Amino acid sequence: VPYSIGVDIGGTKVAAGVVNGQGEIVERELAATPSRSAVAVEDTIAEVVRKLRHRHRVETVGIGAAGWVDTDQAVVRFSPHLAWRQEPLKQRLEQRIDLPLIVDNDANAAAWAEYRYGAGKGASVMVCITLGTGIGGGLVLNGQLFRGSYGMAGEWGHMIAVPGGQLCECGNRGCWEQYASGNALVRDAKELVRSGSPVVQGLLDAVGGPDQITGPAITDAAVNGEPLARELLADIGRWLGVGIANLAAALDPELVVVGGGVSAAGDLLLIPTKESFQRTLTGRGFRPQARIELATFRNDAGLIGAADLARHSLIEPPGRV
Ligand code: BGC
Ligand code: NA
Ligand code: ZN
Repeated sequence: VPYSIGVDIGGTKVAAGVVNGQGEIVERELAATPSRSAVAVEDTIAEVVRKLRHRHRVETVGIGAAGWVDTDQAVVRFSPHLAWRQEPLKQRLEQRIDLPLIVDNDANAAAWAEYRYGAGKGASVMVCITLGTGIGGGLVLNGQLFRGSYGMAGEWGHMIAVPGGQLCECGNRGCWEQYASGNALVRDAKELVRSGSPVVQGLLDAVGGPDQITGPAITDAAVNGEPLARELLADIGRWLGVGIANLAAALDPELVVVGGGVSAAGDLLLIPTKESFQRTLTGRGFRPQARIELATFRNDAGLIGAADLARHSLIEPPGRV
């Protein structure tokens, strides 16, 4: 089976890799997401693909993009965290990369990887939630990614959790991703620092100062036992559990897979998530409950899934995906 390159474009980084037919990454590249312009992001994608392709027999490229992608898997209609607005990403990249390529939503790609090779294998209704800069979503129904009527199903990060709450990059207030994402973690930590709270010193020591407060730094501090970082992750977990209960009310999934950068916190996140899910789920006590599990591929799911989706839609006969 020929190799495929997967590129996952998130709010802060571009993760790319060459993926084989078993969903394994054989080589990878990482770059920062340029925040300036759509063209700068396209430059970065072209550059990582150029570096990766010549050492392997690569036949397809899959792009997982953090935004609303149309049904033709070509145009990014809108992205809350990036500069894309009606961006013909597929066409732009085809001018620079002479390999067949497809564009899909980053979290759809992650969901697909988990369903094919990871925690979601065999699940009949699988919800995927990726916690990074924002919250990404994907839904696999009976072996197929569910894309909705116009390609943009699964945007649960923008379901309103708190009417009139925190302003979201999408333009609304109170979106779920404002309460249960890497950005939420950073905002909460910074707010505590600004308030001069006496409890922040340990966290500041652990991350190395106020300008070093990032999602991964807080997650690391929590994993290393820092108490405030643990509390902040537990807060995120509680919001996550409430949102999952809402999704369960709507979709009745068998399995909910939680991935993305914040999921590196493991049980520090997932235990409070499960507790609040169980307290919130409608009909609890009278119904089977969805399992909630960590993504097998954590932060790599997006790139693995993007590569696999490209291979399936471009090489293998249609109808299989
Ligand atoms: C975007 C999604 C994306 C997610 C994760 C959200 O804010 O709306 O399209 O999948 O962030 O990157
Ligand atoms: Na999605
Ligand atoms: Zn929003």
